Amino acid sequence: MKNNIADIEKEALDQISATDSKDALEQVSIRFLGRKGVLTGFLRNISSLPEDERPAAGKNANLLKIKLEKEIRTAEADLSARDAGPSAGIDVTLPGRPAVKGALHPITQVMDEICGIFMRLGFDVAEGPEVETDYYNFEALNIPKYHPARDMQDTFYVSDNIVLRTHTSGSQPRVMEKNEPPVRIISPGKVFRCDSDLTHTPMFHQVEGLMVDKDISFGDLKGVLTTFVHQFFDEETSLRFRPSFFPFTEPSAEVDIRCVMCRGKGCRVCSKTGWLEVLGSGMVHPAVFENVGYDTDKYTGFAFGIGIERMAMLKYGIDDIRKYFENDVRFLGQF
Ligand code: PHE
Repeated sequence: MKNNIADIEKEALDQISATDSKDALEQVSIRFLGRKGVLTGFLRNISSLPEDERPAAGKNANLLKIKLEKEIRTAEADLSARDAGPSAGIDVTLPGRPAVKGALHPITQVMDEICGIFMRLGFDVAEGPEVETDYYNFEALNIPKYHPARDMQDTFYVSDNIVLRTHTSGSQPRVMEKNEPPVRIISPGKVFRCDSDLTHTPMFHQVEGLMVDKDISFGDLKGVLTTFVHQFFDEETSLRFRPSFFPFTEPSAEVDIRCVMCRGKGCRVCSKTGWLEVLGSGMVHPAVFENVGYDTDKYTGFAFGIGIERMAMLKYGIDDIRKYFENDVRFLGQF
């Protein structure tokens, strides 16, 4: 029997680190920790030691037992990992998994870009509610109940007097009621109509524009919109203003741009006309000013409404508006 715990420890550790198989390790374990093992023998013979050495020897032997058990478990795990080969553990030679990068929805990107252009021209942003009263969506804009113009903008009624807004134009009376001229705002957001085909979805986005002050003319409207189109597309893109009708503007104009696909030669996108309709606009109707308490002798103004999906389709050459809302990341990831 070995009397020295330190000797036993050294010998056991040497043997553990020298083993290169689980069987050999098992033998070492039995040799030192087994019922007839070295350590057990040492404990059994403690009584042969001088009395004052017995407590320390017992304690050290038990501590060594715990230590050897742990060393053997570790050595066993190392042997298992070695035997299993690299494929079972962490293979440090594999390439890392790339973090998937998110991005803003293309409609949000185009909306931000449009707002940015107008903000640099000095316009403030004033958002309105998506669930709107009949008053702000229609009546304040000179569209009385049962007026035929309501047919163009059939919508979802929450109740007789509450609708999902059909356009962002309701922001016009909302802003004017609260502010005296000069007013210079844009109002971006979601709008809703009972419409669904290749070029219409029941929910889409608009950016409204409104500018009111003394001496605002149709020339100002043309200047602002021309600057906008040149910045959003390019300087070569020309505009034309076509007479139109909106109950809340007079005169009213539909704005077309030279087809960005064929540059005016005529193609499928512009139905061979060379022009594309992109927004509605006009000089604010005096009836709207009266509804918000503005002095119609003192002030004039213009307003416009831009369809965001349409602008984004033209900018990126997309032929089906529904692609924006199908949430296919292979489509959305391209922007
Ligand atoms: N609100 C109109 C529409 O959605 C567009 C428009 C806005 C027209 C402002 C004139 C002035 O069709």
